[in-house]
Amino acid sequence: MNDNVGATTTLARSVLGDISRGVSELLRYECEFGETEWTRGPVSNVVGLAQEKPSISDRQGERGRSQQLESVDRGDFQLLTPENVKKTPPVQRQDGRSSTQIEPIRTDLFRNVPRGLDGLNVIREELGDCRRCKLHSGRTNLVFGVGNPNAELMFVGEGPGADEDIQGIPFVGKAGQLLTRQIAAMGYVREDVYIANIVKCRPPNNRDPEHDERLACGPYVLGQIRAVSPKVIVALGRVATQALLETTAPIGTLRGKWFTHPHIPVQIMPTYHPAALLRADNLRRYVWEDLKQVMAYLGKPIPGR
Ligand code: URA
Repeated sequence: MNDNVGATTTLARSVLGDISRGVSELLRYECEFGETEWTRGPVSNVVGLAQEKPSISDRQGERGRSQQLESVDRGDFQLLTPENVKKTPPVQRQDGRSSTQIEPIRTDLFRNVPRGLDGLNVIREELGDCRRCKLHSGRTNLVFGVGNPNAELMFVGEGPGADEDIQGIPFVGKAGQLLTRQIAAMGYVREDVYIANIVKCRPPNNRDPEHDERLACGPYVLGQIRAVSPKVIVALGRVATQALLETTAPIGTLRGKWFTHPHIPVQIMPTYHPAALLRADNLRRYVWEDLKQVMAYLGKPIPGR
């Protein structure tokens, strides 16, 4: 009897210890991102955070697993749960590509671009006063990219918003300020990393960039990746992730997992867009998990470990 009580007490202590470690990790993260607001929302039905590095061809298998995942898209915040996820099988296209793969962009334009600043200058010059797609007509400034031309870590977002359009610099609005805090929480400053977007001109009313716009801008972001040659790209949100990985799979399926870029040997970690976090703060903990994987990969110290 006494043995049973002792065993139960030990078990209870260990469970309480786990809970308290989890809570203090969360608190530490809140401090790291400079947030004081307590996060809400369930974590138990989210089973991401896979450690494996699936190749692009593995994605079919991930779709099944993804159906257990909660997914929030930046635009409409559609919540994918085991209950409401569509169970329809993938459509096989005539050309043999899966229905979650999208038309790839031209990859040859900057294949031999020089590394670093020289390469970025070549790409910027080539873009010039770009009118390759309809987005040019609404822009104030073309937003090329900013940061360390030789960064080991690169962030790729979707496209400029109003603040970025005015300043000509990516991620300077509210979402950008959160990104800056995330970068700091990872042990960097903005000048250490390189930041760019899938499209360089602001889509009207911040709508998603359309396919033709992504195709037009795609070679330039590819060139930027080649020039900077980062070890890791953090793909911010659904649009950036889908464009970089040439897929239509939902962000909730992809985030927290390592991928290799389809054309360049660089690791990609998809995560939720900072703008999504501003609207659904229960996502912050998942982003922190994803960023910690990146920190571990890059050998950065992880707070509390
Ligand atoms: N959102 C993006 O995706 N990119 C920016 O530069 C700003 C907001």
